Amino acid sequence: MKANIVLLPGDGIGPEIVTQAQRILEKIATLFGHDFAFSSQMIGGISIDQCGDPLPQATIDACKASDAILLGAVGGPKWDDPSAKTRPEAGLLKIRKELGLFANLRPIRLFDQLVDSSPLKREIIEGTDILFFRELTGGIYFGESGRSGSGPDETAFQSMAYSVREVERIVRMAALAARQRDNRLTSVDKANVLEPSRLWRQTAARVMAEEFPDVQYDVVLVDAMAMHLINRPRDFDVVVTGNLFGDILTDEASMLPGSLGMLPSASLGSDGPGLYEPIHGSAPDIAGQELANPLATILAAAMLLRHSLSLTEEANAIENAVANVLADGLRTKDIARGGKHIGTQEMGAAVLERLVK
Ligand code: NAI
Ligand code: MG
Repeated sequence: MKANIVLLPGDGIGPEIVTQAQRILEKIATLFGHDFAFSSQMIGGISIDQCGDPLPQATIDACKASDAILLGAVGGPKWDDPSAKTRPEAGLLKIRKELGLFANLRPIRLFDQLVDSSPLKREIIEGTDILFFRELTGGIYFGESGRSGSGPDETAFQSMAYSVREVERIVRMAALAARQRDNRLTSVDKANVLEPSRLWRQTAARVMAEEFPDVQYDVVLVDAMAMHLINRPRDFDVVVTGNLFGDILTDEASMLPGSLGMLPSASLGSDGPGLYEPIHGSAPDIAGQELANPLATILAAAMLLRHSLSLTEEANAIENAVANVLADGLRTKDIARGGKHIGTQEMGAAVLERLVK
């Protein structure tokens, strides 16, 4: 297959880790007979430095014309000046909006070889493999807000709203993903208290009954979910939830595997390209020192193949290669506990070497 992939290396360790992921995608193209064209575009702090804009129009145009986008990270102390007109993060927010990305996917998979890096006990965490779908463009973060009154009576409010259409589209996306996995979907809400949650629950139940009767479906209240993630994370396959609950639960869940350097994410819209990135930031403290773990970005490239290009076998090949590297005891410093400590490029080369059809 032919695909146009836009690379947005960004700041800090971004360029180092995106380079490693690109090498992996190039080898996938060779092994499986695909034609991937790459175009590198500017975003973030480096883009502010070069053209005064964290997201130039050329980047937006290239992204819109692409099949998928792979991002490193943006930001760093250099651009933290509070008096600055624009910040690197503005580029990220804008590209998500321009592309209509409403679903944030975060897989929480613990590679067996890294079980001992988790803060949880082996018998609880072993085998955990959850895929979160967080709604990204609605809910309380985008609700009407304001203040009134003064002194001790000064009051602030922020409203939470969800429409049937917004719930339907993300539940469908999550249910389709469940079919490709363990065929189980859990919807998380707060329907005992919140009206938008009641609409969410009602809509999700209808979509599941009408369109996905084959997918095992259940609902969990968000407070209970916060506990279940710590005491029985293995019991979940695909989890779908709103913006606020998803923000908190995915951050909680991201601690389970023990290192930020291993976790990819994706943001998807109804059509058009998806945006793939590691969940970590630009790690300016270790940039340019061969210390960055490229695996989160390499795993984001696997998600890109799976979700934007429907190349399941290819995605599995990357994930297997990563598992094999870990099984061989190779570790970047952030995940080093006993294993052999190697640098960013060596880690990329190790995955490349184990990548087979
Ligand atoms: P961070 O995720 O960049 O780093 C947190 C800690 O984890 C640091 O000690 C870092 O060295 C380490 N770390 C992160 N990724 C790693 C990797 N791949 N391998 C090894 N170690 C890794 O978060 P921090 O320090 O809060 O933010 C740094 C900059 O990144 C800030 O400017 C922030 O705004 C930005 N940021 C950007 C994001 C994005 O582009 N999506 C997301 C989060 C933060
Ligand atoms: Mg968060």
